[in-house]
Amino acid sequence: MFFAALLLASTGVASVRAAFPAGVIATGTQGVTNPPAPTMGTIINQTSVARLLSINAIDDFCLFAPPVAGSEIADTEGEEVAWCTKPRNNARVIPDGTITGVSFLKTDFYVQLMGTGDFTQLNIAAGDEGGELDPHGATGAGNPVGGNVTTTIADGLDEPIAEWMLYIDDNQFCLRACTNANSTYSAAFMCWHELDVMGCEFVMPGTYNAPGTFETCDADVAYPPGWYPTVVDGTTSFSTFAQYFTGVYTGNDGLPTSYTVGDTVTPSSAYFTPSSSNCVTTSSISNGIASSLLTADAIGTAPLPGFSSSTATAATGSLATASGATGSAAGAGAGTSKQATGGAGATSTGTSGTTPTGSSAAFHGARIGYGNGGEYAGIALVSLISAVAAIGLLH
Ligand SMILES: *[C@@H]1O[C@H](CO)[C@@H](O)[C@H](O)[C@H]1NC(C)=O
Ligand SMILES: *[C@@H]1O[C@H](CO)[C@@H](O)[C@H](O)[C@H]1NC(C)=O
Ligand SMILES: *[C@@H]1O[C@H](CO)[C@@H](O)[C@H](O)[C@H]1NC(C)=O
Repeated sequence: MFFAALLLASTGVASVRAAFPAGVIATGTQGVTNPPAPTMGTIINQTSVARLLSINAIDDFCLFAPPVAGSEIADTEGEEVAWCTKPRNNARVIPDGTITGVSFLKTDFYVQLMGTGDFTQLNIAAGDEGGELDPHGATGAGNPVGGNVTTTIADGLDEPIAEWMLYIDDNQFCLRACTNANSTYSAAFMCWHELDVMGCEFVMPGTYNAPGTFETCDADVAYPPGWYPTVVDGTTSFSTFAQYFTGVYTGNDGLPTSYTVGDTVTPSSAYFTPSSSNCVTTSSISNGIASSLLTADAIGTAPLPGFSSSTATAATGSLATASGATGSAAGAGAGTSKQATGGAGATSTGTSGTTPTGSSAAFHGARIGYGNGGEYAGIALVSLISAVAAIGLLH
């Protein structure tokens, strides 16, 4: 991506798209509830059923949450709608005060947000332990159905992202959109979406701050969720953890059949917590929109002034925006004042090298040699294969 950024800068053509590895960019159309492309400055519509998230900056991102107040995520996964920090994408607008803290991390393989708030204001039932949303779901059409995600973080343009995951409950969320891949880490593995009971800290390790901090940081790349490395004679191999679950499905013979997949011993933590660096804090991400304009079912009559563009989404046509390579000092938008302008220093210390707890029964060995071409197809483990097969049938 860095090379692509240089290329853009040298040619002066902002619309040249970076070359992305296979599996990173979504190739389908936007879901039918969505505008055809990310759009700033759309009319307030708190009844919207649009499902397009854009994840561009600490003050310009969206979440999926229920359309109807008092809903549990687990009951409404297919129906969640987009709620954005600003009027955009025809989505609902997140009222000021809802989000009480966010860490916005840019890494070489993904953009990740970790946040706190009062998500009863986004219709999640008080006390709901939440659930996991991703572009797969029961029918393969996504949870929510037709839900889509874009980001400008990878190359300064609004790129549709194939693999993403959002965990949200009544007071916390974590969201990852996978913007890169190599022969070791596919986007699908880096946004692995089948560990839905494990929680944010396990699946998306990072520095989880108490409410009150709003920061944008660069960060190291985590291992894909559930991966644990072992180095033997200089060769790194990975074992993986697959979430344990049992269930019953009705097979082709019409008979109910029970199944069990995954590991019976659950590791207590990710292998390590990636460090953050170059953190820039922001005092608030308020949009300044009066709460009276954002009541349940509120619908505006015209776009609100001042929201027709944003620093992070002015991605088409300005040379300055083309330099937003992940992790570069330029940040992701035309106006980079909030991003990567200097170091507040690392805020996190990794626990690299900590051996995960749990018996070895929890880890299925798979040898992944970097020297052998490292095709990630080869990483599909016994436990994962059975999990994928079962989930493909049943989820
Ligand atoms: C939108 O989401 C659907 C369902 O996950 C997917 O098939 C399609 O490729 C996505 N399109 C874009 C542009 O992200
Ligand atoms: C608001 O959203 C609803 C549901 O998507 C839609 O039917 C309606 O046309 C929208 N209203 C406006 C003014 O955009
Ligand atoms: C893929 O990227 C990761 C993270 O930067 C790195 O550790 C790994 O060596 C890379 N794999 C290959 C084959 O370059």
